[in-house]
Amino acid sequence: MSRSGRPAGERLKTGKGRTASSTRWLTRQLNDPYVKASKDAGWRSRAAFKLIELDQKFALLKNAHRVVDLGVAPGGWSQVVRKQAPKAAVVGIDLLETEPLEGVTLFQMDFMDDAAPALLVEALGGAPDLVISDMAANTVGHKATDHLRTMGLVETAAHFAIENLALGGAFIAKVLAGGTDTELLALLKRHFTTVKHAKPPASRKDSSEWYVIAQGFKG
Ligand SMILES: C[S@@+](CC[C@H](N)C(=O)[O-])C[C@H]1O[C@@H](n2cnc3c(N)ncnc32)[C@H](O)[C@@H]1O
Repeated sequence: MSRSGRPAGERLKTGKGRTASSTRWLTRQLNDPYVKASKDAGWRSRAAFKLIELDQKFALLKNAHRVVDLGVAPGGWSQVVRKQAPKAAVVGIDLLETEPLEGVTLFQMDFMDDAAPALLVEALGGAPDLVISDMAANTVGHKATDHLRTMGLVETAAHFAIENLALGGAFIAKVLAGGTDTELLALLKRHFTTVKHAKPPASRKDSSEWYVIAQGFKG
């Protein structure tokens, strides 16, 4: 028995046969101005606005020529990159399939696969000057485990950026509340001129996500 008095595992159904949590999700989607705005603008995800807002604040895309998009699906961030830097070469990787996107080379594979970094850099035709990561691990509901899994992705993304970025390049990644842990922050500070954290307005207030923005890669 769960605390609600329902047998554990039973999912509470609402009027139309939806579970209570899917009804909550639907209500939120229908009332979310960013969902409507992204549909109107033709962005594949509402997440597109997060990159737009981060770009407005940190001028990330102005001089981007070679961009790696980690966790690309469904493709909103890459669309924004293509719009703001139409000449940039872009490669993206995701576990999920991404609908083809003009000007973007897509890999459907695990970024944690040892073969992934070389494939991405080879497809890009040279060192990236911007690595963007919106990767998030599928949550299992256990806070500490979810935190560790997502931070593992961030760490691997940071190492990829440090090993491959061109001088002066930038790295941004989704992190969880509390930001990057001390060790990762120290690593980024050693390799970049500025390291900041930001929560763009499009990031839901009740979500623990933040972004780390590291600019001015020193090598
Ligand atoms: C929030 S979504 C990205 C949304 C994207 N920025 C956009 O605007 O369309 C996070 C993505 O990270 C991907 N992801 C999580 N772990 C990954 C991994 N190990 N390798 C590749 N992609 C991963 C997920 O499949 C998911 O599509």
